[in-house]
Amino acid sequence: MARFIDELKRTHYAGTLREEHIGQEVVLFGWVASRRDQGGCIFIDLRDREGIAQVMFDPTVDAAAFEAADRSRREWVLGIRGVVRDRGTMRNPRLPTGAIEIVAREAVVFNKSETPPFEILDDIDTNEDKRLEFRYLDLRRPKLQKALRARHLLSQATRNHMTDNGFLEVETPFLVKYTPGGARNFLVPARLHPGKFYALAESPQLFKQLLMVGGYDRYFQIVRCFRDEDLRIDRQPEFTQLDVEMSFVNQDDIFTIIEGLIFKVWKEIAGIDLLAKYPSGTFPRMKYDESMRRFGNDKPDVRFGLEHIDLTELTIEHGGGGVPMLTPLAEKYKSGEFRRDLPPEIVKALVVPASANFSRTEGDKLEAVVKGMGSKGLARAKVGPSGEWTQSPLAKNISNEFRDAVNAACGAKDGDLILLQFGTASQVHMVMANLRLHLGKKLGLIPESGAAGNWEFLWVVEPPLFEYDDEGKRWAAAHHPFTRPHDASLEFLESDPGRVLCYRYDIVLNGFEIGGGSIRLHDPDVQAKVFGVLGIRDEDARQKFGFLLDALRFGAPPHGGIALGWDRLSMLLTETEAIRDVIAFPKTQKASDAMTGAPDRVAPEQLAELKVKTLAE
Ligand code: AMO
Repeated sequence: MARFIDELKRTHYAGTLREEHIGQEVVLFGWVASRRDQGGCIFIDLRDREGIAQVMFDPTVDAAAFEAADRSRREWVLGIRGVVRDRGTMRNPRLPTGAIEIVAREAVVFNKSETPPFEILDDIDTNEDKRLEFRYLDLRRPKLQKALRARHLLSQATRNHMTDNGFLEVETPFLVKYTPGGARNFLVPARLHPGKFYALAESPQLFKQLLMVGGYDRYFQIVRCFRDEDLRIDRQPEFTQLDVEMSFVNQDDIFTIIEGLIFKVWKEIAGIDLLAKYPSGTFPRMKYDESMRRFGNDKPDVRFGLEHIDLTELTIEHGGGGVPMLTPLAEKYKSGEFRRDLPPEIVKALVVPASANFSRTEGDKLEAVVKGMGSKGLARAKVGPSGEWTQSPLAKNISNEFRDAVNAACGAKDGDLILLQFGTASQVHMVMANLRLHLGKKLGLIPESGAAGNWEFLWVVEPPLFEYDDEGKRWAAAHHPFTRPHDASLEFLESDPGRVLCYRYDIVLNGFEIGGGSIRLHDPDVQAKVFGVLGIRDEDARQKFGFLLDALRFGAPPHGGIALGWDRLSMLLTETEAIRDVIAFPKTQKASDAMTGAPDRVAPEQLAELKVKTLAE
């Protein structure tokens, strides 16, 4: 064995061998992916981090090597020395190394392996929990190898891009002060300060702003963030951001840096030239209002249509059109109880085209889907040849004028199915946005990515600064309270907060929010007014963000920034289905580590040392 490590150094990774290596002597180290006996010889597919190459062991070439191969089983670790030769008629076009094989002249077994609990192949359907429990085996799969390599290249290209554009990578603390209001924090007991806790940083937000006050001008960091949230397919409790902050810039300057980066990495890593689709080198922008109106959310998947139709105005005009369920809503607008510019309740429609051929049962299934989202039901109507409505309880009462107006607004034709939601704007938007996605998938309207045409990037801009918290009956910051309002809407700051728009922006790719940021508020007077609207009293503000408020009084430059979700971006770039596929050691859906068993209980003495008591059984 010593000869292999000490004298024979690895010359190549198995997966990199090609025709050009024919005739060369190579030394390879790797794992047995498969092993076959054939015609007195043994063939082993040797796998390393770069891929697989076939090694042939012929007893007449080297009996000891043949004997080592004969003993070997799946996932044993071998070293081999041999000569690359042409596979001739036996070429395997499906393997990048398929033109060649290596004839072993010497071999060593470095280590045996127990039989792995699942086969290490991409297309086998192993239960995810098992894969996460034996993650080190899962990591040997080509798909994960490819994803982690792409992620490395992504970070590398990013560091180059940011450095070329004058950014400095600066580290910020993970152990920070707890500030209520944002994402839920993980807390860490501070042994040296009994009874006190650090929070794990949910993002470097405040520190990167302080770096701007410190004069660093352009900062970036590829940084871990921690959020104790409920998990989804695109969320992890610890995740990575490309975090960016810049001074003396406007929104366009920030977009330019990020667009430049994305064009570059798509080209370098995925081999896709986004200029073919976006010749100006910039991504389209959509106002938040438009996004909500057409798609019901601020991260629209614009790869397919099925846009929402807002029927609120029409319903008001027709006084509810005879439909008992819609009349109260129309009356509230007529009486002035509801305002038209900030509609608290709305009516929206979606049209399933006749070509989908939806039966009545299909309609019932859709209703069950929206009920699962918390909706009371799904009003619907099938449109007949003369515009009449059938299969619908609404058909009885609706006035002909209103029905014709709805048909016209929806562009509905014979056989189309109109789906309707009404109620509070937030609920209707949420349900209809999800229903649109559900239908997009069900009707096969969402194209596969891959080709340059199917990457739909979008900036969503100009959202409101505040959102009304129905439960708390007060205004809350839609993002965070340090976002700069548009100058033009400053006049409404105190009189009509809902109309204040701000310099916040999200970047969306194929319906995923891959990043977001804002131009920050550096003017202490406006800041004080914003806190006023939010009902944050001076002493509370001092308690929460005193250090930032102080800093803003010591010559804060105008500044702004953005953070891209690194895992989400890697997931989309590598066309993997889940964020877990681009993280070496991810957490499960339940935010635990299936391999190490974290989180875990600790000994009572440890808790005592931290002066912490737990209420859990
Ligand atoms: P935000 O909270 O929007 O902004 O986060 C930025 C991006 O990070 C990604 N992201 C996540 N990815 C995986 N798992 C999670 N739990 C998770 N949460 C967020 C998303 C998101 O768009 N400080 C601000 C940025 C700024 O204003 O500069 C911030 O953190 O892709």
